[in-house]
Amino acid sequence: MATDDTKPIPQPVVARLTRAAIFLVLTINPGRENVEAVRSISADLAGLLRAVGFRDLEGRLSCVMGFGSEAWDRLFEGQRPRELHPFKEIRGVHHAVSTPGDVLFHIRSARMDLCFELAMQIMSRLGDAVATADQVQGFSYFDDRDLIGFVDGTENPVDQGAIDAAIIDDEDPAFAGGSYVIVQKYLHDLKKWNAIPVEVQEGIVGRKKFTNVELDDSVKPSFAHNALTTIVENGKELDIVRDNMPFGDVAKGEFGTYFIGYARSPARIEQMLVNMFVGRPPGNYDRLLDVSQAITGSLFFVPSATFLGNVDPETAPPTAEPATAGKPDEAKSAVRNENSDDSLGIGSLKKEV
Ligand code: HEM
Repeated sequence: MATDDTKPIPQPVVARLTRAAIFLVLTINPGRENVEAVRSISADLAGLLRAVGFRDLEGRLSCVMGFGSEAWDRLFEGQRPRELHPFKEIRGVHHAVSTPGDVLFHIRSARMDLCFELAMQIMSRLGDAVATADQVQGFSYFDDRDLIGFVDGTENPVDQGAIDAAIIDDEDPAFAGGSYVIVQKYLHDLKKWNAIPVEVQEGIVGRKKFTNVELDDSVKPSFAHNALTTIVENGKELDIVRDNMPFGDVAKGEFGTYFIGYARSPARIEQMLVNMFVGRPPGNYDRLLDVSQAITGSLFFVPSATFLGNVDPETAPPTAEPATAGKPDEAKSAVRNENSDDSLGIGSLKKEV
């Protein structure tokens, strides 16, 4: 990306991995005043972040705000980001569900109390304008391991590589400095996973569990997670920026990974998902999914920080009502209809149980 001063400044999409994070997925309630409330916090987010983050600069508090496809039209007039669409469910060997989400806040810090304070400030500003679809508090587990015991994030691009992977440039000039993000909440069956011999687990992930060293191609199965999520176009690997976080609730026996992936085009994340859920070739799917179930799935556009700062709360589009207004049950159903038009239309490869 060129570096002249007129280029929009991105949100902190490529911020360094942190010890703590909060993922807030919200839906905007019907009513123009609620749309205005969300526009208002978009414009003020940087100030709010400064107010909380300044209390401990070493806490490196950051926040990324994204918008779902339907919400975009309620919030903003004029041009749309070129590749913004609802998350497409996938019905392959396993099922990637598509669930509601109008606004995403991805809050990161070295300290959970800073994340929590910012989330609290955001929610008290938004009040009744929104409903919470999901809220997850993620923590870093030992040496950046998932609860399945493997180090997660090793192959993430860094520095300019991360910017090249995640930040839009000339391909969509009106939205340069922006990014796309997909989130999915996975729940693991840890009993089932821990019963699998470590060597087999290593084949499923594609890396050694203890040392984190990548398996040699001669022994790595073609269905290894890191094989299926490696995609190449014209001889070049298409990277994404991930910041997965473990989360859990021991009382409920809930153990999970919150997947979050940023990219300059959602197509590359969608291709990875197809490889995982349907398989490459079809049927050669990601065995992680035999023990991990995706219970949410949403796609958001992350405009540049410059775009957010310029939002005028009072000039919401005249069509600020949701397309599903008057059909609350449909709008709120956690998992979309089986025949949803949002499907990638891959057909059924559903695994026999
Ligand atoms: C249950 C959910 C998931 C878990 C526990 C998980 C875990 C891991 C682990 C342990 C690695 C190896 C270390 C690393 O390079 O980071 C990895 C790599 C990777 N994962 Fe995942 N992952 C999950 C879901 C996903 C999803 C949904 C995607 C994309 C749609 C994805 C994309 C990738 C990519 C691109 C790599 C790096 C591959 C490479 O270049 O070696 N992961 N993941």
